[in-house]
Amino acid sequence: MSSDKTESHTAPLRVAIAGLGVVGGEVARQLTHRADAMKAPTVRGFEIVAVSARSRDTDRGFDISNIDWYEDAAALATRDDVDVIVEMIGGHDGVALELVKTSLSRGIHVVTANKALLAHNGTELARLAEESGAALMFEAAIAGGIPAVKALREGLVGNSFSRVSGILNGTCNYILTRMERTGEAFGDVLADAQALGYAEAEPSLDVDGIDAAHKLTLLAAIAFGQTPDFDRVSISGIRDVSAVDFAYAAQLGFRIKLVGVAEPGRMPRMQTCLLPISTQLAKVDGVLNAVSYEGEPVGSIVLTGPGAGAGATASAVLADLIDIANDRIPPTFGRPLAQLSDGSKVENGGDPDTPFYVRLMVVDQPGVLADITSILQVHGISVESMLQQGRAPEDVVALVLTTHEVAVDRMAKALSEMEALSSVQAPPISMPILVGDLEG
Ligand SMILES: NC(=O)c1ccc[n+]([C@@H]2O[C@H](COP(=O)([O-])OP(=O)(O)OC[C@H]3O[C@@H](n4cnc5c(N)ncnc54)[C@H](OP(=O)(O)O)[C@@H]3O)[C@@H](O)[C@H]2O)c1
Repeated sequence: MSSDKTESHTAPLRVAIAGLGVVGGEVARQLTHRADAMKAPTVRGFEIVAVSARSRDTDRGFDISNIDWYEDAAALATRDDVDVIVEMIGGHDGVALELVKTSLSRGIHVVTANKALLAHNGTELARLAEESGAALMFEAAIAGGIPAVKALREGLVGNSFSRVSGILNGTCNYILTRMERTGEAFGDVLADAQALGYAEAEPSLDVDGIDAAHKLTLLAAIAFGQTPDFDRVSISGIRDVSAVDFAYAAQLGFRIKLVGVAEPGRMPRMQTCLLPISTQLAKVDGVLNAVSYEGEPVGSIVLTGPGAGAGATASAVLADLIDIANDRIPPTFGRPLAQLSDGSKVENGGDPDTPFYVRLMVVDQPGVLADITSILQVHGISVESMLQQGRAPEDVVALVLTTHEVAVDRMAKALSEMEALSSVQAPPISMPILVGDLEG
């Protein structure tokens, strides 16, 4: 199929769009209403030949009267006059997977914003793409309008990466930023974010870190030349953060963010952590996203921008479409599959030693501090700073401390011993402090 399709490099690229919601609808409107602007970088331009969504009656803001309509999105891939499928339905299985598999098997290029699909099925889909010579492009799947994939795969391809990190979920970043500014509880901010349309009715993909971990899986695959393996990512979300922790963190010179970190030879981790206030990632607020690439010889690059929304995400889809129209078709994860190591077998160096933030709710009575410092001493954990909030004898007060670098399992043992103390009134709250080459 693809050799037939690419014969005429001046004819418009024939596009079929599956899913006409927030992103798919905007892509269709851009291709329709900005047709001349879209033609300029390619000469050939684009023609939407077919679309699919659930409801045909919804006004999508562009004229569908001359475009073929499909109830069954997977049937788009059976047409012989489609050059590229734009998959904007979502989900890691079901119709999106069927559509993409069929398209790639038939040599039809695919552009998708679907990080779940690629994090779970990336290797299989990349193989189908490679075998048929089709493109499988996913700039829109990571960090919306930020050219996160292109920067890593092309602009920085000559680097050896020591770390790829990022704020990869705008919903979580919005919730954390607002909790920090207003002191509201997680549940209240989430409910409001849902009412404002920043969070889904079923929020767990976002707030449990899963969506961001899908994106981290893909960035790690490109940066470290390995097949994507979502199962290797350790994931924790933002549900356990309390508003008080933002104030304590600020007093100690930190902000709290959900950050994904991937390093060579280690399990990628999606974690709610403290970042020094001076770092660039710490300054990324609200629904913005950021990616940070640390490599040799470039040093550190941070890209910030809108991580979601119709315009930002459609911008990324258009970039992929224009690349395909210009025959710029890279291997899915930047290198041919034969040159990727097996992501599931990458050596796991374990979690790196890290400094910790710890908050203990303790009864304010003599001897408490001695008990806690003795546990820290037994485990060889040294304290960097300590805060005690409130001074009410026999009342419960917050004791907040930060440690120097310590092994994660050693910290866990110390925390469980602290929890067993009679003076400690609630399970200790702990978060890693992310350090490294992040200074802005
Ligand atoms: N929204 C963002 O800001 C954003 C950012 C980055 C990536 N993404 C990704 O982009 C993809 C689409 O997200 P979205 O926000 O645009 O979703 P959305 O607004 O919910 O749109 C989904 C579209 O798919 C259609 N659809 C659902 N099931 C279908 C089926 N079985 N057959 C045919 N069409 C079907 C829906 O039809 P109806 O309209 O008729 O219901 C709708 O048009 C997802 O993979 C998402 O993760 C989204």
